[in-house]
Amino acid sequence: MESPSRGGVFSEGTDSRVEQFAESISFDRRLYRHDIRGSKAHAQMLASEGLISNDEAEQICTALDEIEKQLDADELPLRIELEDIHMHIEQALIERLGDVGRKLHTGRSRNDQVSTDFRMWVRDALDDIDRLLLELQQAFLSRCDADADVILPAYTHLQRAQPVLAPHYWLAYIEKFERDRQRIKDCRKRVNQCSLGVAAVAGTSIAIDRNATAKSLDFEGMTANSLDTSSDRDFVLESAFVLGVIATHLSGWAEEWILWSTVEFGFIKSPHAFCTGSSIMPQKVNPDVLELTRGKSARVLGNLQTLMVLVKGLPLAYNRDLQEDKPPLFDSFDTIQACLQLAAPLVAGAELQRERISASIEEGYLDATSLMEFMIRKGMPQRRAHHLVGAIVGEAMRRRVTLSDLPLEVMQEHAPELDASVREVLGSKQAVEAFVSEGSTSPKRVAQQVAIWKERLS
Ligand code: ARG
Repeated sequence: MESPSRGGVFSEGTDSRVEQFAESISFDRRLYRHDIRGSKAHAQMLASEGLISNDEAEQICTALDEIEKQLDADELPLRIELEDIHMHIEQALIERLGDVGRKLHTGRSRNDQVSTDFRMWVRDALDDIDRLLLELQQAFLSRCDADADVILPAYTHLQRAQPVLAPHYWLAYIEKFERDRQRIKDCRKRVNQCSLGVAAVAGTSIAIDRNATAKSLDFEGMTANSLDTSSDRDFVLESAFVLGVIATHLSGWAEEWILWSTVEFGFIKSPHAFCTGSSIMPQKVNPDVLELTRGKSARVLGNLQTLMVLVKGLPLAYNRDLQEDKPPLFDSFDTIQACLQLAAPLVAGAELQRERISASIEEGYLDATSLMEFMIRKGMPQRRAHHLVGAIVGEAMRRRVTLSDLPLEVMQEHAPELDASVREVLGSKQAVEAFVSEGSTSPKRVAQQVAIWKERLS
């Protein structure tokens, strides 16, 4: 068969081992809808500019629609010698239309075609991830009212630190995923620039209208420099990074809930539909979905590394290395999509182990900082208050009691200025209620934030 990209300059056919080595059809087939959309826009532009006739453009568009249906039905035979999805579609067009089909590639190269298709694909995939992130945010938000009265320990260094309301935790994740959505939005602007018409590397001497194709493909604008565009994969790197940050957020959350699912913590139970058992230990209920979410983040971060290294040494402009950009980015999108699809129902369906949580919430002196701040509010310098509360906590530890259960006289031995009003801030519940600052876990602040997010996410 005549290969669309091998002209008379070649003295022999391609070695079949090279065809195997160089093909991308095995992974770029999934660009076909975007490729066909791009080709139709290109054909219509060629007709508007008088470079082909309206009738020819119509024939091309009709044939491309038929080829798309064939691909939908998985009925277009894949031939490795055609290398990629772009040549498969063009060849199918030529087989249908002969010379009319041979006109489609006027003023275009596969270099700009690949980049345009991929930008359109990435744009759609980012929108899909954004929607899934919203669903995850909504899942966290949906817990806030029901969990409003639950107090959990906040940790630093994984040591018990201060008491916080459970919704404060849920809002923390809503914020993280919101930043991810903002990053998607920002990254999408640069993805959404049309590269079609820069042709191979220098532009074209054919009077095409790049603005027209950019517009009809819903791009926000078009790229400015053909040499830059032909080499540019920043949009791939940025997307891989955005997905990498989402992966770290998901992985951190998964790790936390895996810990919380242990007997040692005993804070949360995943829905049984999201757990697996053991083939030998009958009692086991394992949080596999969370573990795999944590585990799969490794590939997403690995993909980012792969892509950065892929492009780091490339001189301008197009280099065939760039064909290798698709598998890692596809994998990152697929992986994050799969994780998010399970994360939202898991979050919505998990159950806090209220009794276990409250049974241990007075352990770990979560109210020590509140006691210190109480003394500061009474006029004591912070360093002195910190020192005295340290001594009081040490005394309570020796007696194996909570601060609430430590007799006032014992506290007064360390800090004579203390009176009975100190009880107002002791114990996790009172400590939580004593917070006032913006962004803190006070019930009022948390309720305000929940109300804001209900508004934003509705
Ligand atoms: N299959 C290749 C890809 O996906 C197309 C390469 C087009 N350019 C070239 N000069 N061979 O990147």
